[in-house]
Amino acid sequence: MAGKSDKFYITTPIFYVNDVPHLGHSYTMVVSDIIARWHRLLGERVFFLTGTDEHGEKIAKAAELRKEEVKAFVDKLAEAYKACWKGLSISNDDFIRTTERRHEEVVFRFIEAMDRNGDLYKGEYEGWYCVPDETFFTDLQLKEGRCPVCGRDVQKLKEESYFFRLSKYQDRLLEYYKANENFLAPKSRSAEIINRVKGGLKDLSITRKSVKWGIPFPMDRKHNIYVWVEALINYLSALDWRSEKSDLFWPADVHMVGKEINWFHSVIWPAMLFSAGLEPPRKVFAHGWWTVEGQKMSKSVGNVVDPMAMAGKYSVDALRYFLVREIPLGDDGDFSEKALRLRLNNELAADLGNLAYRVLSITEKFDGKIEGSPELEASLDLKGIEKDMQELNLSGALERIWHFIKACNKYVNDKKPWEMDGAELSNALYNLLESLRIISILVSPFMPETSDRLNAQLGVKSGLLSEAKFGAFKGKVKKGEYLFRKIDA
Ligand code: MSP
Repeated sequence: MAGKSDKFYITTPIFYVNDVPHLGHSYTMVVSDIIARWHRLLGERVFFLTGTDEHGEKIAKAAELRKEEVKAFVDKLAEAYKACWKGLSISNDDFIRTTERRHEEVVFRFIEAMDRNGDLYKGEYEGWYCVPDETFFTDLQLKEGRCPVCGRDVQKLKEESYFFRLSKYQDRLLEYYKANENFLAPKSRSAEIINRVKGGLKDLSITRKSVKWGIPFPMDRKHNIYVWVEALINYLSALDWRSEKSDLFWPADVHMVGKEINWFHSVIWPAMLFSAGLEPPRKVFAHGWWTVEGQKMSKSVGNVVDPMAMAGKYSVDALRYFLVREIPLGDDGDFSEKALRLRLNNELAADLGNLAYRVLSITEKFDGKIEGSPELEASLDLKGIEKDMQELNLSGALERIWHFIKACNKYVNDKKPWEMDGAELSNALYNLLESLRIISILVSPFMPETSDRLNAQLGVKSGLLSEAKFGAFKGKVKKGEYLFRKIDA
């Protein structure tokens, strides 16, 4: 088998299928898709995974409320997720559903490995449970008697349960964080995790006797596995753990998650992996939330934005661009359509769209050979873009790309190619067409459809990042529609 140095495995959370996807879920998908596509541009072997989390009390209740049979209910919603991701040009390589047989099989093997390691024992759980978050809380953790995460009512639980010796892994986790500085990301959130782990870890209840919609606990089938524990294992079940595929792709390079589920991914999951004898992922990135008037966008608050409606109104690529350009990855941001329109009008239409249209219009009227020497090269900070992408600073990379686009527009304004002819015009067009070809490569992870359209107009094939440098222009230009049109309020 080929070496592992050029593999890249990125995952998103698997989403609960209690309702259709909203813009918050789409954000995680778009961010992860851009990173996956970037690594494909680098020529790496990429595996990009998403899926749906289909068990547990929350989903059983959602189906019951709608008077639907649970399996039929989750089947329908899983399709809604798939359709939405297709609509947003998401390029996932697989889609795992926790009701699939392949998932259950790996979950059994994983739990057995933890058990063989002496990490599971029977006891009694007594404490609180938040159904919408599917999370256990102690008295001390509650906020004014309610869930500290979502503020909703919690229920009292007292039942027989099997436990995972999470407490055993405190030191090992702290050592791992120390030895792997990039594991907890962004840095601004790492202290919180480290301090909580330093404060001590309690063993985790990992089975529920009273929850019927779930995967049976292999050692005692009167119990079902706690939904979070089996859900985390999806990252391995999609690789068919203990196969050539899992040997190649594990450990995951990035688990992209929202900040409210950081603890599960940065603490519980690595401890489970230690227990099963596996390496933890290389990085857990906990991104921020889209809010509406300061409140987290969520179905229960009733303030969700429909991603397909936004894409329909402004185009898929404008939405993708806006989502990553508007807020630095890691921060929260308030959603507004006005801000989306401003970015579409000023950056996509006025900068990128206008540049392409102007350059292609002039090129069409020129029938000489296009050649010259690269004068615009110095305005492109390719190293900076690569560094930003490596550090998952997606908005920073876009800023640098836009710096280059603006430099190209300035070049047009200053040089006035419409007043030129002969070798001078050939040289200006050479610079601008090569720049557009390079821009098209650089924006392709962010706006794949726009990149395809621009390539078609330039008459070039889509390239790898290694081709994002000035060479001979070989395209056959054929001007088309504007890439973006301005939209009024
Ligand atoms: N099923 C669990 C995850 C299990 S992963 C092994 C879950 N599902 S969820 O449907 O609630 O999705 C949560 C994720 O959706 C967040 O972590 C985040 O990635 C995304 N978002 C949901 N609402 C969001 C915002 N308002 N803003 C940004 N991201 C949001 O938790």
